[in-house]
Amino acid sequence: MTDPDMCDPATSDPAMSDPAMTDPDMTDPAAELRIRPMTPADIDRVLQLALSLPQVPHWPPTAYTSALQPGAIPRRIALVAEDRNTGAVAGFAVAGLLPPQAELESIAVAGGCRRRGLGRRLFTALAPELRSAQAEEVVLEVRASNHAALAFYRSLGFLQTGTRSRYYVDPVEDAVLMTLPLK
Ligand SMILES: CC(C)(COP(=O)(O)OP(=O)(O)OC[C@H]1O[C@@H](n2cnc3c(N)ncnc32)[C@H](O)[C@@H]1OP(=O)(O)O)[C@@H](O)C(=O)NCCC(=O)NCCS
Repeated sequence: MTDPDMCDPATSDPAMSDPAMTDPDMTDPAAELRIRPMTPADIDRVLQLALSLPQVPHWPPTAYTSALQPGAIPRRIALVAEDRNTGAVAGFAVAGLLPPQAELESIAVAGGCRRRGLGRRLFTALAPELRSAQAEEVVLEVRASNHAALAFYRSLGFLQTGTRSRYYVDPVEDAVLMTLPLK
């Protein structure tokens, strides 16, 4: 089962991430998480996390099942961050491959696990897989109001390449287009 606040609810507040405000003897729960390929057995837990977050695409279960098929077109690379002890899913990332481009379709980290470098770990694990699959750049679109994601993508080196006016619905909003060359 996925607990959206599984790492530590208090740390979803960036002020609480200050090392001076945390117990130095406590193990960082994020260290208990490992990144691995998503499998069909993860879909329920991935869906549970995705559906709890309005910012990520709400794919139906069949879309994940299809995406994980070896012969899927486009081919996709999907990773999860899993708690080594409980098997809970703390985050995931999905990218579609259309070489020389890859599209980062979804990346999410459970609320209580944020600002611990998990999103970065997911993308850092994804990028070489995309590069190995002949992708030379990663593109994405993100809601203009999703300031956390925009800051996150910028921290990874993504640059804004344009906008798409009124691209999203519910609510209607512009998309920011971003790209990152893969070394
Ligand atoms: C975007 C998201 C995946 C980032 O995950 P994360 O694990 O918190 O990110 P990281 O801890 O790896 O952050 C890496 C860097 O990104 C930047 N960053 C991440 N979240 C940020 C925020 N809320 N505000 C400002 N900068 C932020 C920072 O530079 C951060 O480094 P720092 O913590 O050392 O300052 C997470 O906020 C999330 O799941 N959001 C909801 C889903 C979503 O919007 N997904 C994107 C659209 S599909």
